[in-house]
Amino acid sequence: MTEQFIVKDCWYVAGLSDDFPAEKLTGHVIAERPIVMWRTKDGDIVAYDDRCSHKRFPLSKGRLMPDGTLECAYHGMRYDMSGKCVMIPSHPTGPISPQAQVRPFPVIEQDGLVWIWPGNPERSETSKPPRVPEVGDSTWKTVRVGPMDVSANYLLLIENLLDITHFYPLHDGNIGDIANSRIPIELEEGECDGNKYVMTIRKTSNYVQPPYLVDWFHFDTVDRHHTHCLMSPGLTRVVMRNAPPGELKEREGDREFPGSMEVDGIERGYVLIHTHTPVDSRRHIWRVLVNCPAQHMSKGDPGKPTATRVAEMFPEVAAEDLWAVAEQQKMFEYPDEGYSEVFLKPDLALRRARKIFHDLHAAEVSAVGAQAAAE
Ligand code: FES
Ligand SMILES: [Fe+2]
Repeated sequence: MTEQFIVKDCWYVAGLSDDFPAEKLTGHVIAERPIVMWRTKDGDIVAYDDRCSHKRFPLSKGRLMPDGTLECAYHGMRYDMSGKCVMIPSHPTGPISPQAQVRPFPVIEQDGLVWIWPGNPERSETSKPPRVPEVGDSTWKTVRVGPMDVSANYLLLIENLLDITHFYPLHDGNIGDIANSRIPIELEEGECDGNKYVMTIRKTSNYVQPPYLVDWFHFDTVDRHHTHCLMSPGLTRVVMRNAPPGELKEREGDREFPGSMEVDGIERGYVLIHTHTPVDSRRHIWRVLVNCPAQHMSKGDPGKPTATRVAEMFPEVAAEDLWAVAEQQKMFEYPDEGYSEVFLKPDLALRRARKIFHDLHAAEVSAVGAQAAAE
């Protein structure tokens, strides 16, 4: 059986900033860790082990006290924001054991997203969460889809995103478009903020758009750049830019903030942010943020932002992907004996993505080994 794994030493999205109103406790499972999170009165996000150090009762089922401590709902032990127990109701004057504390997790809030590092905190400086500046930028319209609970290892969904040759037949009838599958693929690889990335680039000219793309982007025939970039195990960025033939500007760096994706200045397009947060090796949470320039309206309904239009279409398409990856996942239960996967030419990016995951996993395992040897 091919072993599936998750990378724990990595930044993952725990939610959008809006998912964390002040003083509301939420329970999460991220990379096999139960985690309680909340936003303090001062606006900071706190995250620590959701298991009370006394008898494992989930702290997310407790309550926040006026002094900002978290009270366990079972026997009432209270924890401060660092996860240290500061009060035990059954012996209020006695000493508190240093063991009475729960492990905190590093958190970074940026670009409207809350990121958490569920692995070894000492390695959290090795990378930074990828930036998504268009989210929350007022010149852009952002519409969220999800969170979706996916019954599959997150790498299966990432492979699905990097490989659009599945548009036909999996998405036949909505975004299915066999011509897409035949566009030659260029690959770009590199490193940004400590994250290895792999990006597929599909450039095409005089492309006759299917009706849904005409509705989103207005032009019947376009020159188009379409990129899919695995920025880190936690985030994949998809950029589509198109313009009438001969009018699409060459630009480096579609994996970076595009700034203006002009509308009346002609070019139109979108940035899709997909976040992948593993629950365990067979399940993950998928969030999508659809971003278009704020003034970009759909052709079929000029009163409706294109970002909204794209997001409306998403659930039906996503349902097909969810079905596919869950079916694949079931097949991992059988031993490989006599079975091996075939790799086609467009699978190159997927192989590189797997290598990024394997290298990160290997580095994490060797760091655990080195730590064990030192102890
Ligand atoms: S389990 Fe939390 S105080 Fe006992
Ligand atoms: Fe798909």
